[in-house]
Amino acid sequence: MRLEEPAADKIQIVFTQRRERVRHSEIMGARVGGVTSSAPADLGRRRGEYGIDAPYVPLSMGVGSVVAFAVFFSGSALSIPALAAIAPNLGLALAASVADYLYASRYGKFAVWRDLLLSLGLRGDEHVLDMGCGRGAVLLMAARLLPRGRAMGIDLWKTSDQSGNALEVTRRNAELEGVADRVDQRTGDMRALPFKDESFDVVLSSLAIHNIGDAAGRAKAIDEAVRVLRHGGRVLIADINATREYEARLRERGMVDVERGSLGPRMWFGGPWVAASLVRARKPSI
Ligand SMILES: C[S@@+](CC[C@H](N)C(=O)[O-])C[C@H]1O[C@@H](n2cnc3c(N)ncnc32)[C@H](O)[C@@H]1O
Repeated sequence: MRLEEPAADKIQIVFTQRRERVRHSEIMGARVGGVTSSAPADLGRRRGEYGIDAPYVPLSMGVGSVVAFAVFFSGSALSIPALAAIAPNLGLALAASVADYLYASRYGKFAVWRDLLLSLGLRGDEHVLDMGCGRGAVLLMAARLLPRGRAMGIDLWKTSDQSGNALEVTRRNAELEGVADRVDQRTGDMRALPFKDESFDVVLSSLAIHNIGDAAGRAKAIDEAVRVLRHGGRVLIADINATREYEARLRERGMVDVERGSLGPRMWFGGPWVAASLVRARKPSI
């Protein structure tokens, strides 16, 4: 079943400081920041396989749902009125959360990042880094907008953070998407990026930095993003928590145009209580 994506002109990226909308003409791919190609309109097309983010989360919610219904239908709950009332509602709520989570991970994330990447207005010759690229959902979409540029993904390939996560899987996806010639992957930790200062025009990160357990480690990842970014370059981070930390750290590191805002229901991972936000910023030109 193919779930319908919201119309491009109804994009819901709401920022605290200002509301930003992706222009319809950009979405439709007439001309995106100097790149005239069919790539933008094509960006929704996917040939690779991208797995499920943190697969144990929907799995445990699904098990919880089954247990709640089992308790209800076994009849054991019927003698306890409170349990008889709560169990089916809990089962339904957990089942709805699983559906919402799978939608966000399989469809919503792609639709949101498509809009975000188009909003960058790339020329097509930039060097882009994706920190925690996983199987390449964002990395390979970015690569499609870089006919004369390069897209670099770095990851530790943790299968607990994304199902089937592996460097070879990402490489295979790059081939399936037809962008292998402009994509590089490295195994490494985003807290210690193996790149020279100021080597990228854009640094992206999707649902990855929160996986670093300690605030000091997350701050280090932000510092690294700033270090490898060229002056005038931009950073875009979508994540489900700790985004206020990223926002504050980017300001501390001298970044400008720092904004944080909701990415809307398409990136609710199980419900509005696990909603992703976007943090974006620019490194000042010299
Ligand atoms: C939920 S997945 C998201 C992957 C991809 N960005 C996407 O949106 O599909 C999080 C990714 O972060 C990676 N990761 C976690 N900690 C990392 C670290 N310290 N350095 C690099 N990658 C990391 C995991 O291996 C995983 O691929």
